[in-house]
Amino acid sequence: MKDANTRIGVGVIGLGTVGGGVVRLILSHRASYLHNYGIDLDVVRACSRHAEDAAATGLAPERFTENWREVVADPDVDIVVELIGGEHPAMDIMEAAFAAGKHVVTANKALLGRHVERLAGLAAEAGVQLRCEASVAGGIPVVNALEHALTANEVLTIAGIMNGTTNYILSRMEREGADFERVLADAQRLGYAEADPTADVDGFDAASKTAILASIAFHTRVVTDDVFQEGIRNISAEDIAAARELGYTIKLLGIARNTADGVETRVHPTMIPSDHQLASVSGAMNAVYVVGDAVGETMFYGAGAGSFPTASAVVGDILALAEPMSRGAAPLAEREPYRAVRPIVAAEELVNRFYVRLDVEDADARAAVEAALARHGVATEAVEAAGEGEGARITVLTAAVREGEMAAALTELEGLDVVRAVASVIRVEDVAAWSEGAMEN
Ligand code: HSE
Repeated sequence: MKDANTRIGVGVIGLGTVGGGVVRLILSHRASYLHNYGIDLDVVRACSRHAEDAAATGLAPERFTENWREVVADPDVDIVVELIGGEHPAMDIMEAAFAAGKHVVTANKALLGRHVERLAGLAAEAGVQLRCEASVAGGIPVVNALEHALTANEVLTIAGIMNGTTNYILSRMEREGADFERVLADAQRLGYAEADPTADVDGFDAASKTAILASIAFHTRVVTDDVFQEGIRNISAEDIAAARELGYTIKLLGIARNTADGVETRVHPTMIPSDHQLASVSGAMNAVYVVGDAVGETMFYGAGAGSFPTASAVVGDILALAEPMSRGAAPLAEREPYRAVRPIVAAEELVNRFYVRLDVEDADARAAVEAALARHGVATEAVEAAGEGEGARITVLTAAVREGEMAAALTELEGLDVVRAVASVIRVEDVAAWSEGAMEN
């Protein structure tokens, strides 16, 4: 425990975009934190593979090291900030920090998405905290909202645009009528998308964030592998235009619902009504919709990435730990992760409506298509045939159907002579269902 009014030592491991922002934010705001909260944050040690990263932050050179173990072992470091990302050595860093009785602040969604239960357990055993606001949606304080301000609620649904790269790409496709590959290449050129875009465009990043939020919101184990996952590579300009005609906008949503059958958790391109608040979130911005049974619908909007927005979340976590310490008290130990583990709804049991576009030989294919769908119990709300020759297509809007039945129907459709290709399959979200179970006023 610290004596009142002593400095709180911070050790930052990783000085990239986020870590550099954290050091610069603390250095520039140190006096105001002291003035406003009586907290004196001191970046005692910082670690990176590149000395020039430390120099760029303005940190004194003698505080820099290339060895993370020196940061964790430094007796003046009270809070270890892990910002290197990935599983290793981030896991080793956190284990070493907990073993040394130090609190950890991290933005590491990949690690937490897989191992939050184990890491929170280690923190609890060590009597320290693991804080991770920056791991989901950058600067948006949604983890804090779920862990503090909304705890009076049973959370019913989380639905979020939690990946800025894909939202940027989909927004530009929508605005310009351009196809995915062209916008992706442009986004890479402009630095909005990574050279290897897989983690973002194939939904891995959003799946980790969905798992983290679901496990916090529903007090149960949800890991990244539990999340049904489909990315945006197959979305075309034609799909976006067709969605608009139907009154929908396509967003890559991470959705987690607390249902009677268990936790439903999925990331996929989703058609949502164009007048829904999430539909208006454009560019690289993030937004997370949280529906609580008492509070009803809430939406948290802001920057999901970037140096200072993400540093804002990291330093907020540091200050939350430092607040009791600076008053001579120890922060409460991490809670044991979950009291019970709820089932995860199996992927084939998920129920959705679907938009399906088929390239067909001619409009006469319609009867065969409808018969094939009916054989698998897939009811339709609308079926339209359009175009001729090469351009002949049939679009179908299904009623709600299990993924398992829909997959079987799609396999049969692909095998029909009259169907040249299943060009597009996109889930259509029942946004009204997100509030099922809310308390009546
Ligand atoms: N690659 C992420 C995104 C960065 O595009 O949102 C923040 O986690």
